[in-house]
Amino acid sequence: MVPNKNNDSSRSDALVVFGVSGDLAHKMVFPALYRLVESGTLTGPVIGVASSNWTLAQLHRRVWDSLKHASINSNQRVLRRLLSCVSYVKGDYNNPQTFAKLATALGQARRPAFYLAIPPTLFATVIQGLGIAGLAKSARVIVEKPFGRDLASARALNRVARTVFPEDAIFRIDHYLGKEAIMNILYFRFANSFLEPIWNRNSVASVQITLAEEFDVAGRGAFYESAGCLRDVIQNHLFQVVALLAMEPPAYQGYGAVHSEKAKVFQAMRPLHPADIVRGQYVGYLKESGVARRSDVETYCAMRLYVDSWRWQGVPWYLRSGKCLAATAAEVLVELKAPPQQLFTDSRPRDGRTNYLRFRISPNAAVALAARVKRPGKEFLGDQRELYLLEEQADEETPYERLLGDAMRGDGALFTREDAVEAAWAAVEPVLTTHDPVSRYARGSWGPKQADALIAPDGRWHNPIPNDSVRAVRR
Ligand code: BG6
Repeated sequence: MVPNKNNDSSRSDALVVFGVSGDLAHKMVFPALYRLVESGTLTGPVIGVASSNWTLAQLHRRVWDSLKHASINSNQRVLRRLLSCVSYVKGDYNNPQTFAKLATALGQARRPAFYLAIPPTLFATVIQGLGIAGLAKSARVIVEKPFGRDLASARALNRVARTVFPEDAIFRIDHYLGKEAIMNILYFRFANSFLEPIWNRNSVASVQITLAEEFDVAGRGAFYESAGCLRDVIQNHLFQVVALLAMEPPAYQGYGAVHSEKAKVFQAMRPLHPADIVRGQYVGYLKESGVARRSDVETYCAMRLYVDSWRWQGVPWYLRSGKCLAATAAEVLVELKAPPQQLFTDSRPRDGRTNYLRFRISPNAAVALAARVKRPGKEFLGDQRELYLLEEQADEETPYERLLGDAMRGDGALFTREDAVEAAWAAVEPVLTTHDPVSRYARGSWGPKQADALIAPDGRWHNPIPNDSVRAVRR
């Protein structure tokens, strides 16, 4: 985003992973650490902390198992280097002894990074424990999502974090920000000049963002019961995408300016009204382990959102996400207004989409621009074509690898700021507890029918296809 001016002395010289025996460490953190060791970014000690009664050998086996699950064909030399860095501290996070043992394990480390891969209910306890033990000085803290579960809890957590760490030492993770396709939105918007004249309420009819997943809650029923789709992916991941699409140009070259412009987008979001959201639950969710038999938690959420800024006044933003949908893919569709006059019989196609920009976020990254062009022949008839400006299969670096590496370098560009997180919660606050009951939807569908009615005044949903590749669309 912006050249990193930090030098080696500001690099964290130890990484402490709280929750090292947990699911997140197994799924995401160990594979990222392996890559960081492989690239030479991680050279210092990695201290795992958890309450499990594990030996170091057990932790090593867990690392090995995690790499196997992530299909990493590990190089023995890199694996040995990683394992030789790893040590284990067993302890209860409420017990000051745990932090004393951690201090001993940290030895001479000058600038440790503390990564909280633990349940959110424990964030404040661990941050306070670090402060009391005197471990926060010159250190960094990396906090997993969800950062709070409403405005009050986000504020309370920010207060605790800020009494122990300065803002520039707090790294709030939203792994979406570490995705190549999301980083490209910022670059694409501000590295080009042709977009600016049309990137506003005069030319944009609506914006849609879909994060669709074919799989179910995958053993995370208990977590989902405390979160639901709105808290799990919309208030954070999809809102971050809105902010990058809607923000004003940053005033200067530096990530502080990007954070400030993004925060203004959240502040300009019109607080949601219960009529702006549709909540759904896939058939069978109630049978998942850890789920209450009469749960009203949503596994699908669609919303209509407004950003009440000069640029976006009156433009509807439609966001939706869900589990057990028809495809696994995430996309943005920025739909431009149709030509003001219909000069050709087909220049306003039945589906109402003439020109749009499509940003594919996952599983691959793509940017496509749709326009109509004339078919050869005497008739003034044409086809809609998509011109691919970008098409990439997979990220070279995974988001976790990128974000952990950045946090250890002290580069806060791809993290979220206190004011932005709070403003995002303020926008969803009115619908967190006041809403209609969930509507059931069939597995493999595109969610409840009510979501079609929500978008009907402005068109219809754009369903991302599972396999996106360079192609011409003819309609
Ligand atoms: C996580 C959510 O933050 O993001 C998951 O907890 C969701 O429920 C995931 O599946 C989506 O991100 P990605 O990168 O896997 O598409």
